[in-house]
Amino acid sequence: MPFPMKYLPLMIALFLLGGVSAMSLYASQQAEKNAGQADVRRTRAIIGGAFTMIDHTGKTVTEKDYLGSYVLVYFGFTYCPDICPTELQVMTEALNMLSKKQSSQVKILLVSIDPERDTPKQLASYVSNFHANTIGLTGSAEQVKKMAKVYRAYYNKVPDKNNPDGYTMDHSSIIYLMGPDGKYLAHFPYGTRAKVMSEKIASFMGKN
Ligand code: NI
Repeated sequence: MPFPMKYLPLMIALFLLGGVSAMSLYASQQAEKNAGQADVRRTRAIIGGAFTMIDHTGKTVTEKDYLGSYVLVYFGFTYCPDICPTELQVMTEALNMLSKKQSSQVKILLVSIDPERDTPKQLASYVSNFHANTIGLTGSAEQVKKMAKVYRAYYNKVPDKNNPDGYTMDHSSIIYLMGPDGKYLAHFPYGTRAKVMSEKIASFMGKN
């Protein structure tokens, strides 16, 4: 059967349409890819920054004190009954899974969002339960507020009748991994296993 010539314009139109939709699919995939990269760049730009705090030895410190190290930053408080100690234990295990040389390049920062109770002395005794590279940070209410803001961390004081001081702290529970340049590399949601964390940290080493 000869090809009915009257359908030719239709065939050409369909062929062109197919080409156009393939091109637009490619364009939207590219746009998505670019958006993903932009997301990483944006996150790198918005998480982290300047802060001034007091460490658990009583020394005033800033973000510059931790340049050159990989830093796991976690906002919590020493009176936290379960989540904070669990997360600190996971970070401790993650560092223990690294080689000695690797773990020596990593610091864990526990940033107290309960400076009222978390004095440097209180933090010193608390961090001694975890990896030796763990540093407790506290400060004035204003200093804590500023540091939480640069890390987009959330916290809120809530009444608690079962607590001797009558309050507890609600807080976000995200661990941020910052690079030796002080910039954001990755974050770990609550529940991340130590092995996953350890492998992720190791994956950045040697690249920077
Ligand atoms: Ni907690």
